[in-house]
Amino acid sequence: MSNKNKLARFAEMDNLPNVFQNVSFEKPEARNYKGELQAMSGQWQAHFNNQNLITLELACGKGDYTRGLAGDFAQRNFIGVDIKGNRMWVGAKEALDKNMQNVAFLRTQIEHLDHFFAPKEVSEIWITFPDPQLGKPKKRLTSPRYLDLYKKVLADDHFMHLKTDSPELYEYTLETLNELKLPILYQNDDIYARELDFPELRHHTFYEQMHLENKKTIKYIRWKLF
Ligand SMILES: C[S@@+](CC[C@H](N)C(=O)[O-])C[C@H]1O[C@@H](n2cnc3c(N)ncnc32)[C@H](O)[C@@H]1O
Repeated sequence: MSNKNKLARFAEMDNLPNVFQNVSFEKPEARNYKGELQAMSGQWQAHFNNQNLITLELACGKGDYTRGLAGDFAQRNFIGVDIKGNRMWVGAKEALDKNMQNVAFLRTQIEHLDHFFAPKEVSEIWITFPDPQLGKPKKRLTSPRYLDLYKKVLADDHFMHLKTDSPELYEYTLETLNELKLPILYQNDDIYARELDFPELRHHTFYEQMHLENKKTIKYIRWKLF
């Protein structure tokens, strides 16, 4: 994509009512579409104007899972989180065009998650096709450092989900969860080999589609963090 198009998307992102953007990496704060700073921690249900449970999609890219699940579950709220604004623009625009009231996006580094969500505010986290960070285990979104971060915002009754094409990330995550003695509720290293065990796995992300075209198998783990 040309720089001009990227800049146009960035400018438009500032005006999308379903997007909140972190403006400072030293002092994380969210800015809304009016350009106002808005403290979102503990305020997401107020934003959605309901009391419905909240699901996050981390490393959401274009927010394919956010939008897919939001279509399946009208009685839940979905928030896509990523740092890349030009990808998020695609999902945020489509959610607005389709009038998806239960969808929002937060542009921030995942490392700042606990600045934007209160303890127990989140009921589910999907991590969809994150970079496997080969050779950099500490940067993997399922490494103990990140799992500790997710614990800070998760409700007692929660689920964690990882969907990946990477055998290394899949094995690493299982090893990490086993080392931490965390309950693994489901694991499958080739979910499309037979009929899906969970219908929500049918949604394909942008990266997933590329991996499927390259004949990669798709893996999935569901677990709890406490
Ligand atoms: C391989 S892409 C996957 C995107 C999308 N889930 C999909 O499957 O199409 C990984 C995404 O993770 C995001 N990402 C990686 N590390 C991140 C971090 N620390 N904070 C926020 N986003 C991050 C990148 O910006 C990128 O959009």
